[in-house]
Amino acid sequence: MIKIAIFGFGAVGQGVAEVLLNKRDALRRLIGDFRVVAITDSKGGIADENGVDLLKALEIKRKRKRLPEGITTLDVINSLDFDVCIEATVTNIEHGEPGLTHIKECLKRGVDVITSNKGPLVVAYRELADLADRKDAKLMFEATVGGAMPIIKLVKNDLAGNEIYAIKGILNGTCNYILSRMEKEKLSYDQILAEAKELGIAEADPTYDVEGIDAAAKLVIIANSLMDMDVKFEDVERIGITNITPEAFEVAMDKGYTIRLIAEVDKVERILRVSPRLIPIQHPLAISGTLNAALIKTDLAGDIVVVGKGAGSKETASAIISDLIELYRC
Ligand SMILES: NC(=O)c1ccc[n+]([C@@H]2O[C@H](COP(=O)([O-])OP(=O)(O)OC[C@H]3O[C@@H](n4cnc5c(N)ncnc54)[C@H](OP(=O)(O)O)[C@@H]3O)[C@@H](O)[C@H]2O)c1
Repeated sequence: MIKIAIFGFGAVGQGVAEVLLNKRDALRRLIGDFRVVAITDSKGGIADENGVDLLKALEIKRKRKRLPEGITTLDVINSLDFDVCIEATVTNIEHGEPGLTHIKECLKRGVDVITSNKGPLVVAYRELADLADRKDAKLMFEATVGGAMPIIKLVKNDLAGNEIYAIKGILNGTCNYILSRMEKEKLSYDQILAEAKELGIAEADPTYDVEGIDAAAKLVIIANSLMDMDVKFEDVERIGITNITPEAFEVAMDKGYTIRLIAEVDKVERILRVSPRLIPIQHPLAISGTLNAALIKTDLAGDIVVVGKGAGSKETASAIISDLIELYRC
């Protein structure tokens, strides 16, 4: 019996709970019997060694916006017996908390960790990976980069044995949405951003996305975990998309190019950068809308390109569930 604890019950935590509920039988065939023994949010939680009623937990959260008070995530870690935590609390790339403490405390106890939270990995990937090794626990993080787009396990498993020279990608769907609409509609950055906010594609404060911070955080995770590098967030050269004009698109398009926010790490050229780049219109990275994409340059397999939905409750749950199956496949 696999005992699961879910920390963070927002879009992602709820998405995971829905999949565990709706695909229970199919998942049992893949990983054997499992139950969720705890779910927490910022104010409280529900814990039951015999299994939390997921449907009820989802109803409570949706109706009352909060889980019952009286239990914290650290209470769960310190007092409950579970095999794996799904860490889906808020991202903070300066100090990594609260996720960093949750992940460390779980790994110290030999509990496997699956996280969608970039913060702890940006701040302390090497420390967490070493801790996991020492404690014979697993640290899985497919959901931190590219949402449903497979990249972490793709490189670690399917491209195992390859040297990864460089990875170049579109790692922020909000920026890509804004730029691809500027390309097609010749409207200003501010006009498209206002509409993106109305549609819920951009946050009320879009700084994290449009200044390239989110893409840079993902690039740090990619460099450290897939390319054996040791880089920090501050090492990333970073320019956002706020100064791109419709005129810049006109000039680019006249020459057969478009403009995209590209995150790139290149070991040979010593590049670690997020910036708007000219991309040939036919290039595989010239994708539109909120999609993410990555071009992986390897020694044996040559170039590999992946494209997929970079965010969303169900899409991120897809990455988390794939990590769960990788951990416990019968
Ligand atoms: N949404 C996506 O498409 C997506 C994609 C990839 C990665 N991610 C990452 O996945 C994580 C979750 O994203 P989300 O969209 O679900 O965010 P969200 O909707 O804001 O949910 C965050 C959750 O974390 C909870 N939380 C905060 N502090 C906590 C604590 N100390 N203990 C337990 N729970 C705590 C919040 O509690 P309250 O409900 O009480 O506020 C909330 O339930 C983030 O790190 C995000 O960057 C998200």
